[in-house]
Amino acid sequence: MNKKTIRDIELQGKHALVRVDFNVPLSSSATAGLTIGDDTRIRAALPTLEYLLGQGAAIILCSHLGRPKDGPDAKYSLKPVAGHLSMLIGRPVAFAEDCIGPLAEKAAQALQPGEILLLENTRFHPEEEKNDPGMAKQLAALADIFVNDAFGSAHRAHASTEGVAKFLPAVAGFLMEKEIQYLGAAVAAPAKPFVAILGGAKISDKIGVINNLLTRADTILIGGGMANTFFKAQGYPVADSLVENAALGTARELLAKGGTHLRLPVDVVIGDKFEAAAAHKVMPSGTIPAGWRILDIGPETIAGYARVIEAAKTVVWNGPMGVFEFPEFAKGTFGVAKAIAESGAVSIIGGGESVAAIQQSGLADKITHISTGGGASLEMLEGLTLPGVAALQDK
Ligand code: 3PG
Repeated sequence: MNKKTIRDIELQGKHALVRVDFNVPLSSSATAGLTIGDDTRIRAALPTLEYLLGQGAAIILCSHLGRPKDGPDAKYSLKPVAGHLSMLIGRPVAFAEDCIGPLAEKAAQALQPGEILLLENTRFHPEEEKNDPGMAKQLAALADIFVNDAFGSAHRAHASTEGVAKFLPAVAGFLMEKEIQYLGAAVAAPAKPFVAILGGAKISDKIGVINNLLTRADTILIGGGMANTFFKAQGYPVADSLVENAALGTARELLAKGGTHLRLPVDVVIGDKFEAAAAHKVMPSGTIPAGWRILDIGPETIAGYARVIEAAKTVVWNGPMGVFEFPEFAKGTFGVAKAIAESGAVSIIGGGESVAAIQQSGLADKITHISTGGGASLEMLEGLTLPGVAALQDK
């Protein structure tokens, strides 16, 4: 990576403004209040935070959480995250109820080396998403240096990700560095054969990725709802399956461009309704009877995809193969997860649903790199430069 990291600058006695991606799922209960569901993103920031503390810096953390629309909203508050982080890192984490203005300034000024302060949700200010230079300047005024460890938000050019880097010496944290190294190398210089597995509902979310990977991957294996749009584009009946009609033209272009490098399921599991308890059966692709819908890839496809994955040296996976929340339609997703885990290839998994699937399968420790980024990891696979990364100082 050609960007400076926290290893490259003096940290002793410095106030470091650290952008993290603490956009974690919160659930609310009457007894426990708001609690954190999956804390992977918080844990993933710990190496950077521990290093900064060890080097004698004071840490001012900022993040967004969710997509609040009209200013401060208690259900998007980062306050529960302060308590959770404190438990994980084994020291107090102070909380400021605003990320800029007098409350943030007072709390930041009082901070001593070795102490941590978490600021309230940056998206409580509409200026954040507008990448407003005034807000970026106010954030920058809290610290001496800016550390971006929020890989999951690096595709957003917002005040706390991109704008602030114009007003302070700006470097990457360890999570950012690791994500860029793995995802960047997979796209730029993959060990071959390089196999990409792409699933999920929509082709339109992945056009850029498919286009870019068609020039780099040896094989792209398609599953999930987006396969249906490819089937329809080929003129096959898909009955009640989810289809993106607006993307049929794109699907035809991708099929023509991809040729034999782009593989579609040869069989599928269909259900008579979109429910866990739906009646289900396996059918060859292209033979879906009226009243039925495609909900997973079939056993022959799983076996064929597994053979391709087995021979790979690099595997990238984004998006489930079927509706894996329903056990009868989860075999494709878990079959692919198992094949990746057993392949011995450099394996990289991104996107919330495929990450959840690999964790549920108990095979996460067999994967080389599990990305904390959804949209950000897709943009890396698309070969795009992420604004939050571009804004950091070059080495
Ligand atoms: C994510 O969860 O992918 C990141 O935190 C970015 O969130 P956003 O899509 O709301 O910008």
